[in-house]
Amino acid sequence: MISERVRDIPFSGIRRFFELVEKSEDIVSLGVGEPDFPTPDPLKISGIDAIREDYTSYTSNYGLLELRTLLSDKLEKENGIQVNPEKQVLITSGTSEALDLAFRAILDPGDEVLVPEPSYVSYKPCVWFSHCTPVPIPMREEHDFRITVEDLEKSVTKKSKAIIVASPNNPTGSVLLKKDLEGIADFAVEHDLTVISDELYEYLIYDKIKHVSMGSFNGMQDRVITINGFSKGYAFTGWRLGYACGSAEVVEAMMKIHQYTMLCAPSIAQRAALAFPQCKKHVKRMVSEYDNRRKLLVKGLNELEGVSCIMPKGAFYAFPNIRDTGMSSQEFSEKLLSEGKVAVVPGSTFGKSGEGFVRCSYSVSMDEIREALKRMDSWINKK
Ligand SMILES: Cc1ncc(COP(=O)(O)O)c(C=O)c1O
Repeated sequence: MISERVRDIPFSGIRRFFELVEKSEDIVSLGVGEPDFPTPDPLKISGIDAIREDYTSYTSNYGLLELRTLLSDKLEKENGIQVNPEKQVLITSGTSEALDLAFRAILDPGDEVLVPEPSYVSYKPCVWFSHCTPVPIPMREEHDFRITVEDLEKSVTKKSKAIIVASPNNPTGSVLLKKDLEGIADFAVEHDLTVISDELYEYLIYDKIKHVSMGSFNGMQDRVITINGFSKGYAFTGWRLGYACGSAEVVEAMMKIHQYTMLCAPSIAQRAALAFPQCKKHVKRMVSEYDNRRKLLVKGLNELEGVSCIMPKGAFYAFPNIRDTGMSSQEFSEKLLSEGKVAVVPGSTFGKSGEGFVRCSYSVSMDEIREALKRMDSWINKK
């Protein structure tokens, strides 16, 4: 009954691992991939008002024009991307939907997509669902898990149609610098590739590094589909709201699929999101807290026997190297869970080049990080 294509695609390794976690007791989990903060008050109040005012019907397929207009102002001011809110911004059900639409709008069966890895677990399946082939590009620890054009050159073929760029990155926490993005942009032009730029963690950047959007580069406006959302920066995961911007032609094609499959993004979440410009201080506070946790976690990880960890520059993940423990990332994570009572995610879940690493989220309290480190230390010392 199930199509061969769907049958052949594995379930997310994160899900599988969390089924194990759910069965265990007294676990400190560094496995979570979402903010532990509540949604900021201005967004909550705006959502509650929407319900009170019976704002419960469909919106335009593109999304509320008022929200698209606010987003186009934000895109211009913060990202240097100029878009017409009427035709070049689409509001989606999470960044997840925007990603799926972007692939389906531009790919034909048999096309290849360059997917730098380790990377977010949905990219490859989305490409498969479009009857296309993801081509993994390894990102290396020696290069701070940043994409190099040399690695891209080795894998590009005549069938290559697009490349994913995700900065800050899940699971490595790496952030691409302007010069990295310029190199990738030149490469994309040379090989006539569309760039899908996932910028969901744009606000979660540390050490005064500035987020750069490739869609702002000269000559790249029509080549880049910028994907973003409210989930991570605004602690808004369950509300399911994202957006995409790009050329009017691509955004219209994405809207065509969205129109038939989703109709529109949740109206209440869209109304809630109208308050995002009032949340600057809330975002700042969360980022500063993540930063403290990042330092505590990375310092502690580097003190563990057989573990080393480069300082991540963005998102809320550390990606320690565990090769010197002699275990695979799956074995390390399973044993740490059953014996040490700490949950982390095996790096192999994020692609082959994630092997030898585990993902530790610092979207948990300082106390939980301290407790996790204490347990990891005593577990490793018992080995
Ligand atoms: C890099 C990245 N992109 C996209 C998503 C999807 O986010 P959402 O659909 O909640 O906006 C996630 C979720 O973890 C992610 O880590």
